Amino acid sequence: MPSEKVLIVDDEKLVRWSLRQKCEEWGYQVSEAENGSDGLRLARNESPDLVLLDVRLHDMNGLQVLQRLKQAGDARAVIMITADPQLEDVKQALKQGAYDFIGKPIDYDELRVAVKNALEATQLRSENEVLKKEVLQRRRAAYHDVVGESQRMRDLMSFVNKVASSEATTILIQGESGTGKDLISRAIHFESRRKDRPLIVINCSAIPETLMEAELFGHEKGAFTDAKAMKKGLFEQADGGTLFLDEIGELSGLLQAKLLRVLEEQVIRRVGGVKDQEVDVRVIAASNRDLERAVREGQFRQDLYYRLAIISLFLPPLRDRREDILPLVQFFIERYNKRFRKSVRGITSETRDLLSKYEWPGNVRELKNAIERAMILEDDDLLRPVYLPFSVGSPLSSLTAFEVSSGGNVAAGSIPGMHSEIQVVNGKNLPRLSIPDGGTSLEEIERTFVEMAMQQANRNQTQAAKLLDISRDALRYKLKKFGLMHSEDEEVSAPPH
Ligand SMILES: Nc1ncnc2c1ncn2[C@@H]1O[C@H](COP(=O)(O)OP(=O)(O)O)[C@@H](O)[C@H]1O
Ligand SMILES: [Mg+2]
Repeated sequence: MPSEKVLIVDDEKLVRWSLRQKCEEWGYQVSEAENGSDGLRLARNESPDLVLLDVRLHDMNGLQVLQRLKQAGDARAVIMITADPQLEDVKQALKQGAYDFIGKPIDYDELRVAVKNALEATQLRSENEVLKKEVLQRRRAAYHDVVGESQRMRDLMSFVNKVASSEATTILIQGESGTGKDLISRAIHFESRRKDRPLIVINCSAIPETLMEAELFGHEKGAFTDAKAMKKGLFEQADGGTLFLDEIGELSGLLQAKLLRVLEEQVIRRVGGVKDQEVDVRVIAASNRDLERAVREGQFRQDLYYRLAIISLFLPPLRDRREDILPLVQFFIERYNKRFRKSVRGITSETRDLLSKYEWPGNVRELKNAIERAMILEDDDLLRPVYLPFSVGSPLSSLTAFEVSSGGNVAAGSIPGMHSEIQVVNGKNLPRLSIPDGGTSLEEIERTFVEMAMQQANRNQTQAAKLLDISRDALRYKLKKFGLMHSEDEEVSAPPH
């Protein structure tokens, strides 16, 4: 753990010196300022965890400095130091958010305790702030954000509704990556009586096994070398609310056993602790692995699986509920219209065919990303296939995808009616191309390449002409012929007068 930063602001050199000695001895990182304005500047640059602030400074009153520090949010905790504590000053300082007040001459034992308490208190506070933010951010994504027209999704959502308002304390959500497990867990939380309490999310694969137990259950002070203070675990922090354990299949055997006990008895024990504590937490576990199979293969405890699976939801892959694809597309178009200030109305019929036929191995997440990408690139009010990701328009579908690339820049698109892939590198490589029985016109191919080159060159005609290895005049001729000249093209590429 990096050491905490303490800033000393005092105009007496000797006081600064002895404070520095002590703070460094206690393991803090120290900087110092001899007046108020330097102190404020340092605080802004260094965001110290704690400021030790003298009340009487040459250039400013310490209370003014305190006020400005607090307003700017440049110091998490402040302890005031003064030779003649006046009751009024003390009151004022505490009201303005100082953590404590220490008299001079300084009693270093007293200071040491004050510093430690101040740092712990601000740490707790900032953990709470993180929690609150998490809750606020997640509240926005509620139930009505779940799109699903297919019968399977409708049945699932009415089940989700029932489960949310039930008293079930464990729920298992299974499904491939990108099918909406996170989203559904939020819907369950915010439709439950727990909605005003925290929803805490933790990914079991993201935390090393050695830290996981303390993370989940907390630890007592002194439980291990780094445990300088008591710390609440996620179960305690989520008390009254919901704990979402993502990728539960990655939990170690030891922790699987500990988790089972918590689920069965609704009590936890901090690491290094001697007594159990009751907690009221709903656990939603999610997995993209087939847990039943993991049990068969001896990688997941059977008893824990049965406990988790009492109420279990399965999110089907998108390819098994294709009726949801187009409603999802519309939903994401509306979302990105707002976000990107665009006014895309929908998709062309070719795009619709492509999106409906594709396999979507990355499920809704992949679809969402595809729409986001197309929305960024598309200037028309209907999304065309050219801006779909390469994979979506790949040879597997009935269309051809191609790339024009130059110096690492790649633009991708597809030509209706073609089955194979064309690749042109700096206009020199021979395209890998096979022509379908129905044929496709050379003009069609040419037009698409001209369009792609213009896109890749940011509509700079000189550069686009270079990409295609033709003259600028030839390019302009083709742009006009194919109706690809934009109104801005005339000015953008015009040579300076
Ligand atoms: N039915 C749905 N309606 C709207 N958005 C969805 C739906 N399912 C998934 N998403 C969106 O797709 C993305 C991936 O979903 P997520 O819940 O993170 O999947 P998982 O946790 O299963 O990997 C998220 O942005 C989510 O909001
Ligand atoms: Mg997820």
